[in-house]
Amino acid sequence: MAIEANHNLSVREMDMQSVMHPFTAPAMHMQTGPRIMVRGDGCRLYDIDGRIYLDALAGLWCVNVGYGRSEIVRALAAQAEALPYYHGFASMSTEAPARLADRLKRMAPGDMARVFFGLSGSDANDTQVKLVWYYNNLLGRPEKKKIVARKRAYHGVTVAVASLTGLPVLHDAFDLPLARMLHTETPHHYWNAPEGMDEESFSRHLAEELDALIEREGPDTVAAFIAEPVMGAGGVIVPPKGYFQEIRKVLDKHDVLMIADEVICGFGRLGADFGCQVYGIEPDLISIAKGVTSGYVPLSACLISEKVWQVLSERSGHLGVFGHGYTYTAHPVSCAAAMANLDIMEREALTARAAEVGPYMQQRLRATFSDHSIVGEVRGLGLIAAVELVRDPARKAAFDPKLMVAQRVARRALEHGLVTRALPNGEALAFSPPLIIERAEIDEAVETLNRCIDGVRGELSREGVRLP
Ligand SMILES: Cc1ncc(COP(=O)(O)O)c(C=O)c1O
Repeated sequence: MAIEANHNLSVREMDMQSVMHPFTAPAMHMQTGPRIMVRGDGCRLYDIDGRIYLDALAGLWCVNVGYGRSEIVRALAAQAEALPYYHGFASMSTEAPARLADRLKRMAPGDMARVFFGLSGSDANDTQVKLVWYYNNLLGRPEKKKIVARKRAYHGVTVAVASLTGLPVLHDAFDLPLARMLHTETPHHYWNAPEGMDEESFSRHLAEELDALIEREGPDTVAAFIAEPVMGAGGVIVPPKGYFQEIRKVLDKHDVLMIADEVICGFGRLGADFGCQVYGIEPDLISIAKGVTSGYVPLSACLISEKVWQVLSERSGHLGVFGHGYTYTAHPVSCAAAMANLDIMEREALTARAAEVGPYMQQRLRATFSDHSIVGEVRGLGLIAAVELVRDPARKAAFDPKLMVAQRVARRALEHGLVTRALPNGEALAFSPPLIIERAEIDEAVETLNRCIDGVRGELSREGVRLP
């Protein structure tokens, strides 16, 4: 059937009439329409109308090597030319995933034995849930299945991992979370620590809460704990001092596996290859995605420790095949792109660069915003940060969410050529730029954000919002 290609519609109209957008309010989209990006180079994006933006979020926390890297494009084109696709089911294989799995095992913290590939952070965490359930079935512990995440965590959107994500917008209208998925307290000292409690004591307090939760549920029913080293989309929350050490003691006490969700922190963002290395976390399972290909093509993976792998490999004989996998598991084009991306990361020492430029970004943000009249907290580590807006910092009084203050700032920033993001919980603006960002670009981003926050502050006071 011949269909006229575009019925004389503009791209904007085709988008508005035909695309359903993720994490977008449909009614609002019909008013505002899309902003259509057409090109990228370094940290810059160019839209269809010729406007230029500084991308302070690296896409969605993922374009670590920056845009326009023809080396990655050549690698994936060469793989597609030679063999665009072949699968990994029933012992079939291709070269690129074998090489990449070997490389990832050597890079990763802990004692990683195998790599299972997927295409998104969500599917990686979903696979982790199934691995943990499978593991406990093989160990003859069919009741040990509950998974503990943290409030405000972000682990993705499939039914299982949206349940682990600790954000109401992923639960309320979807009848989630599922049973078996539990949430413990957010490790956010600013909002959650009892008055006057220091960071170390707060860490112990959080570990005690986790211990109490596991005791209440029954240790024989709790299988795993999942955590981002630094929480990303839930607010860029840096754990208090000693947090993961205290948590690990509780997990060991109850024989609970630790899943590190390195989807944002992995591949340099915190100034180390993995967030686990920054915090001395010894994970049993690791999820990666985003930075492994810098987003050029989709790829994710679960890294499986020797401890878990031994059980999976030695006790599964009676089950026959491992009944899980995607058509695109171990996709050769994605794996070839990842190899080229990691070559760039290594050659240009981008992780070390994040360790060097990250403190500059943190210091610039703190110097500019720590005493700002509507900024409550500036937080972050390496090249990830958030600036949280509050109505009255002295009293820690939050803004009414209906005012959508952070969203207004993010929209104004876009008009001024800066891409940041209003996070879905609290009024925080996120920074997570490509690791190649220059100091001058950091200055530009901070100055633009400052002007936009001031602009929104003026708007709020004209609307009669009481501000200090
Ligand atoms: C820490 C973390 N885990 C998992 C995911 C889900 O990844 P995806 O959107 O690729 O499914 C994200 C996405 O932002 C993330 O930040």
